[in-house]
Amino acid sequence: MVLPLENVSLSSHTTMRIGGSARYFISVHTEDEMCEAVRFAHKNKLPFFVLGGGSNIIFPDSGFLGVVIKIEIPGIVFEEHGREIFAHGGGGVSWDALVAESVKHNLWGIENLSAIPGTVGASAVQNIGAYGVEVKDTIEWVRAYDIQRDIFVTLSRDECAFAYRTSIFKKSAGLPTAPAGQAGKKLVVMKVVFCLSKNGIPNLRYGDIAKYFLDRSPETISILEMREAIIKIRAQKLPNPQTLPNAGSFFKNPIISKNQYLKVQNAFPGIKGHEYLGKVKISAAWLIEMCGWKGVRYKDAGITQKHALVIANYGNASAHDIVHLSECITRDVFERTGIALEREVIII
Ligand code: EPU
Repeated sequence: MVLPLENVSLSSHTTMRIGGSARYFISVHTEDEMCEAVRFAHKNKLPFFVLGGGSNIIFPDSGFLGVVIKIEIPGIVFEEHGREIFAHGGGGVSWDALVAESVKHNLWGIENLSAIPGTVGASAVQNIGAYGVEVKDTIEWVRAYDIQRDIFVTLSRDECAFAYRTSIFKKSAGLPTAPAGQAGKKLVVMKVVFCLSKNGIPNLRYGDIAKYFLDRSPETISILEMREAIIKIRAQKLPNPQTLPNAGSFFKNPIISKNQYLKVQNAFPGIKGHEYLGKVKISAAWLIEMCGWKGVRYKDAGITQKHALVIANYGNASAHDIVHLSECITRDVFERTGIALEREVIII
């Protein structure tokens, strides 16, 4: 039985620490509760918003005049499948708790994704990625709630339509009551099953990791050492949202054609990019820094000194302040380079 709470502050439910109150807030721990929460919203003719760990989201200062449904479905279970191990993670499990548990069991596959904030459910929605790995590479299947049909469905990796920081779980299906940012959201992730391996080899492809293990031969590197390295490298590069509220990378790295890349490279020879599915993924952080935005503040919203892709809340920034700063950056980068930055963070 769900318990809708009234007028709950959303800022404490997001790593940006921004946002007014939700008219109703429902924590969901089981699949049945998920159905109940959606029925509550329908019955009251209110829009609803599905929230995970709140690490990639900014709610408006005016709050949300509907039902925020927070997925708190627990559970980590490892299941042996021949040489492989399937790790089942409830949608509400902390992503890093799943990584830590897998590393403890010596199961390879997601160690490079250590210390990413957010939940297991959001890992599939976002297709999180870091240090040469995208979570889609390990996802076996996903159990989701189909809002329109009011049934639970199982999707194979292919059916999830994963791509850079996106998936079918971000796509809409034209639900009339859905708010901006989740317009017509159709599928809500309940559980994700990952295929992990007992005999992995460290993935050292990413420059920072290769540098860290420069004098080591890969077969001597343990999974625990990999996790420790990732955590250290992340801490050096990215501000901790616990101490400086932020939502990780604010923008995606733009993916442009090889022709366009050559043109931009002519104008900006230092530009950083690498081949990605026949195109070139370029570093948004480099572009933003090159345009002089690193460390720039607008009121309490600011681009961090540590990383040009991260916009932080330095005190009492409003959603409006953050959005204003991000739009100034997008406009300026476009005017100077012709490259359109796209937000990774979802603004409601
Ligand atoms: N760089 C700059 N200025 C900066 C920071 C970085 O010029 O202030 C340059 C660096 O020199 C480097 C390049 O940008 O060559 C890439 O930097 P980094 O390794 O930090 O990675 P990123 O492309 O900026 C992506 C992900 C991160 C992920 C890292 C590590 C996106 C949008 N971001 O960042 O993911 O942790 O790679 O793999 O794809 C997130 O999505 O929230 C996130 C933090």
